[in-house]
Amino acid sequence: MTPRVRTAVLISGRGSNMGALIEAARSPHFSAEIGLVLSDDPAAAGLSLARDMGVPAEAIDFRAYTGKPAFEAALGARLTSASIEIVCLAGFMRVLSPAFVERWRERMLNIHPSLLPNLRGLNTHERALAQGLIEHGCTVHLVTVELDAGPILAQARVPVLPGDDAHALAARVLEEEHRIYPQALDEFARSVRAASEHA
Ligand code: GRF
Repeated sequence: MTPRVRTAVLISGRGSNMGALIEAARSPHFSAEIGLVLSDDPAAAGLSLARDMGVPAEAIDFRAYTGKPAFEAALGARLTSASIEIVCLAGFMRVLSPAFVERWRERMLNIHPSLLPNLRGLNTHERALAQGLIEHGCTVHLVTVELDAGPILAQARVPVLPGDDAHALAARVLEEEHRIYPQALDEFARSVRAASEHA
């Protein structure tokens, strides 16, 4: 069978996108294998979800390190020791340093809950409502040093409906996140594999 590209998912919280990636990767036709889940927060609910789904999951507790460089050194060492080739950020709430981002250049994906380049940053659903947008959505993109600004791999649109609050809108967007993130990873991992086969 064609080798699958070893992928890690980085989380900080509930890990529903992580769960969607693990679920999709159960198919033998999926081009990425989720080999590891890491969280910067030991209390992240996604850690036990990952284990229940049969994927090794570990905390690299940010607060246990003296600062971002030490934390990122531990993170990087673990990714390397697990032979990871692709990193998927999925609700990972830390801004990674330029050096770390460079190390994973064109190998690190993120899911963002807006139609980038609109609504970079936090609280996207609240801001979509406050701006009176009629359309909202989510984006899978490559991670670059500039936050939420890397090349776009996939997007999905949802309508903003009369009576929506941030919770209702977030739930509609999240459903699309769970659909496009696995698709985007599958396509991306296939292109990584093709590139390494032709190298
Ligand atoms: C998602 O809305 C994602 O777009 C954003 O953070 C949230 C994470 O949710 N980056 P979950 O942990 O995947 O459930």
